Amino acid sequence: MVHFILNDQEINTSLPKGTLLLDFIRYQQRLTGTKIGCREGDCGACSVLVGEIKHGELVYRSATSCLMAIGNARGKHIVTVEGTNVEGLNFIQQCFAEEGATQCGFCTPGFMVSLAGFTLSGKEATPQTAVDAVNGNICRCTGYKSIERATAKIADKLSERKLEDVIAFAVANNFLPAYFINIKERLLQLDPPVINTPKQNGSLLKFLGGGTDLYVQQHDTMHEEEIDFMFDKSELNGIKQAGNKCYLGAAVTVTDILESPVFQDHFPNLAKHIRLVSSTPIRNMATIAGNLVNASPIGDFTIFFLALNAQLVLSDGTNSREVPLQQFYKGYKKLAKTHEEYIEQIWFELPAANTMFNFEKVCKRTHLDIASVNSAVSLQIENDKIVTAYLSAGGVGPVPAYLSKASAFLHGREINERTIEETIAIAKTEISPISDARGTATYKSFLLGQLIKAHFVTIFPAIKIQLLASE
Ligand SMILES: Cc1cc2nc3c(=O)[nH]c(=O)nc-3n(C[C@H](O)[C@H](O)[C@H](O)COP(=O)(O)OP(=O)(O)OC[C@H]3O[C@@H](n4cnc5c(N)ncnc54)[C@H](O)[C@@H]3O)c2cc1C
Ligand code: FES
Ligand code: FES
Repeated sequence: MVHFILNDQEINTSLPKGTLLLDFIRYQQRLTGTKIGCREGDCGACSVLVGEIKHGELVYRSATSCLMAIGNARGKHIVTVEGTNVEGLNFIQQCFAEEGATQCGFCTPGFMVSLAGFTLSGKEATPQTAVDAVNGNICRCTGYKSIERATAKIADKLSERKLEDVIAFAVANNFLPAYFINIKERLLQLDPPVINTPKQNGSLLKFLGGGTDLYVQQHDTMHEEEIDFMFDKSELNGIKQAGNKCYLGAAVTVTDILESPVFQDHFPNLAKHIRLVSSTPIRNMATIAGNLVNASPIGDFTIFFLALNAQLVLSDGTNSREVPLQQFYKGYKKLAKTHEEYIEQIWFELPAANTMFNFEKVCKRTHLDIASVNSAVSLQIENDKIVTAYLSAGGVGPVPAYLSKASAFLHGREINERTIEETIAIAKTEISPISDARGTATYKSFLLGQLIKAHFVTIFPAIKIQLLASE
């Protein structure tokens, strides 16, 4: 059975745990305010809020219900647009109506839900953070200016909020209905979710993280699969620092990384890097293990962690072993792990004060797109020389690439234009890009060179002048 709260109603369902939340909401519960647009996580028409108790606090994040299994809703509060209704229009709906921010209305429930999530997030409310909250919602017909005016009005009202309870403020100011006040107590009374799915007849289970890859690739068959739900397992969650090492549970999400004090302390440009990765609801669902095992040659976090020389802890449930991420990819979608093994943990050495990290990504459009080519670098500097270097690149071969020759070349080098040009030349001998919808092989090879230059001018701004002078 799957037990959770949907709006203000308790749900107990015996449907297969791999059933899509979107299908459950629309076809079982007849809550048709949640729309079906792309069914691939791109448009946000199916947005819901997912509330759960984390470290004693009720936390809400947005999600695309078209990629979420009901098994991942266990023990949580799922909010659809109907669950945000009050008598008459709520404050968010009122702002959209006043600013003419809705036309055909198909996308509007998704915007309402994402903005309800913004209201509950307790984030600083500015016109920019309000727009960020709807970065996973696409509108085809209204035009975004009226939506921006409406979100700015919402931010303005929220900026009146003092340090009070965000739920109490939302209810008192007609953003949300009163039943939200009791949700935390009701969630605490739900049976603790049984996460482990036993193996049946020795059959192999499919590991499921957030589902943002599997439900796109295997949309029609996932509800029939025997699934091992990884997303909520406590032993696969959490980001910890011990000495100079950082340990991440396999089910840590991109949002968990963005909000982690350990990452914020050691990666000053983290927010800038993560802005380039998908949208808020996808980041809320996408796990790091899912990104690594998906083995896409352009997976952003794969490229990120390759340049951090990350190590993977694999387990088959009985035995564990470590594999360097740099040795994990054996060929296109071929991994150095058995079918029974799952990623339990990822660890890496945190950048020291003299270690500089940078991530670059070029896509066909800046936001909400996967990379044509991406790259990351980690450089440790002593006495103006590079003493350790790790350089990675995606989109330039069948697997996410660790550029071992270019990295080795950098050891002991001075940072100057010649070093950069020679690194690029060596890196180009290690890649085998193909021409596809994301660019020709020649273009991708050129892009890699430009991204390597971008690493150096970002980390060492003085170099920019030299590079520009020589062009
Ligand atoms: C709209 C959209 C935008 C996207 N944008 C980006 C982007 O900008 N950059 C990017 O890199 N990716 C992007 N993605 C891809 C995807 O979100 C990421 O790859 C994500 O990290 C996958 O994680 P998940 O938990 O959702 O994976 P899932 O779909 O749950 O699983 C993916 C694979 O990993 C396996 N798996 C999951 N957990 C484990 C584990 N612990 N051990 C072993 N195997 C496991 C699964 O069996 C499956 O094979 C996007 C996807 C969508 C839908
Ligand atoms: S239907 Fe488009 S994001 Fe779910
Ligand atoms: S109002 Fe028509 S798609 Fe947004």
